[in-house]
Amino acid sequence: MARRLGIKYYVEPDSASLARRAAQYFVEMAGEAVADRGRARIAISGGSTPKAAFSLLADPGQPWRERMPWQRLELFWVDERAVPPDHPDSNYRMTREALLEHVPLHPEQIHRMEGELDPEVAAARYEAELRSSFRLEDGELPRFDLVSLGMGPDGHTASLFPHTEALHERSRLVTANHVPQMNTWRITLTWPVINRGASVFFLIGGVDKAQILNEVITGPPEHERLPSQIIRPSSGILTLILDKGAAALLPPTDEQGCGCYEREG
Ligand code: 6PG
Repeated sequence: MARRLGIKYYVEPDSASLARRAAQYFVEMAGEAVADRGRARIAISGGSTPKAAFSLLADPGQPWRERMPWQRLELFWVDERAVPPDHPDSNYRMTREALLEHVPLHPEQIHRMEGELDPEVAAARYEAELRSSFRLEDGELPRFDLVSLGMGPDGHTASLFPHTEALHERSRLVTANHVPQMNTWRITLTWPVINRGASVFFLIGGVDKAQILNEVITGPPEHERLPSQIIRPSSGILTLILDKGAAALLPPTDEQGCGCYEREG
């Protein structure tokens, strides 16, 4: 019997305010984790949407840089492309340019997926890194304090693409995933790890995602076609930070731009 999932979504008028809301959410969640557990272990996604939020977090002229508990932060990746770290497609490179070069994080606080290696080797090495960093017992899953996700126009999240092998991987923490529709390999956290996150949120912008987002949120379960539906945090709560375009087909929000939706499967 699928457990109920409470989905809370915040809708911002445009991409600039979406980035500001995301920066604020990163700071709030990191601050809560540090207050509760003494540190904040955050897994971030790549793609274009988070880049503006990372730039705001790095900008000394904005209010968020000084509020982020950098010294208590540990940064991980949700997924990576099978490319070297200086490749234009690298999620690490995007994050380095937008964030890492501008903030006081030490190398030991940054846990990069080694996209330059054979994907299976990179996945195994990252799994070992997680086991070591979280001091995991056999069979134990890491519990990230915050997992930041995006969603592609095909309904994928992380590197869990429609009709790919990784959707069925539930024993490993990290896996290599061949994506035939893109003729490429990815390295990705598996969905059980993502769902274990204390706080899991999607950051999605653009009217081109409105239809697929509505299907993911309000449509019947179709996990093979809509992998973002597999994201059902064990906390029972999923947060979406959206712009008006992406939220265009969701049920209307209240005057504060907040909406709620409950789903079973
Ligand atoms: C990646 C991301 C991926 C991303 C979505 C949305 O490696 O590309 O992890 O899951 O979040 O593709 O990307 P955009 O933010 O560019 O739309």
